[in-house]
Amino acid sequence: MADWPYPRVVAHRGGGTLAPENTLAAIRVGAKLGLKMVEFDAKLSADEVVFLLHDDTVNRTSDGRGAAARKQYAAIARLDAGSWFDGRFSGEWMPTLQQASEYCRELDLAVNVEIKPCPGREALTGRIVAGEVARWWEGATSPVLLSSFSLEALRSARGAAAHLPRGWLVDAVPADWREHARALGCVSLHVSHRQLTAARVVQINEAGLRVLAYTVNTPERARELVEWGIDTICTDRIDLIGASFLG
Ligand code: G3P
Ligand code: MG
Repeated sequence: MADWPYPRVVAHRGGGTLAPENTLAAIRVGAKLGLKMVEFDAKLSADEVVFLLHDDTVNRTSDGRGAAARKQYAAIARLDAGSWFDGRFSGEWMPTLQQASEYCRELDLAVNVEIKPCPGREALTGRIVAGEVARWWEGATSPVLLSSFSLEALRSARGAAAHLPRGWLVDAVPADWREHARALGCVSLHVSHRQLTAARVVQINEAGLRVLAYTVNTPERARELVEWGIDTICTDRIDLIGASFLG
């Protein structure tokens, strides 16, 4: 089985439901609660700066409007990415991957960077994100785990930084999961917990892959998944499923 130097719990989008997603404030909230690992989403601005954002547009999580892939990062950085969530977070911005890396390294957090390309930019995003991860986390204690729903992005990430561990994100597990995971040299499959069964976890492990389950928001379900042999739980509820919750 592949190496897995990661903790049992990872905070989804930085700080789950406790802070505006994909901001440094979110990462701070998780670290304060004792979390040892964060997941966040990375994509490219028009000028190919890697920054943190989940959606294709900035509409839902900032005071701006429009497609991220059409904006220069300088304009993105000026948007308020905190107030939509709560006035207490006004002034938060969409950080660059470099800023997130500096903060995570300062807080000694392990990281799962999800490569979240805007449509049509899969290969480009995979290559640039992987290259930056290799650069900004050089010499880090545990290697950054890259993941993506996009096989094209993962392929391109492998070309740019083959030494970084890769996980393939899926909702339901497709019929050809073994072939794709093998071809991409993945260490893990990241699966929606709703699609998992105990038997499926065994199958994935037997193929030599670790399992990360997302997004698990009740302690009962988290406990069940761990009993099935899940390696890591990605959660929004870091207040309920904390660093010490699952031992
Ligand atoms: O990596 C798990 C999870 O982040 C995947 O879904 O849409 O929240 O990025 P999403
Ligand atoms: Mg994500």
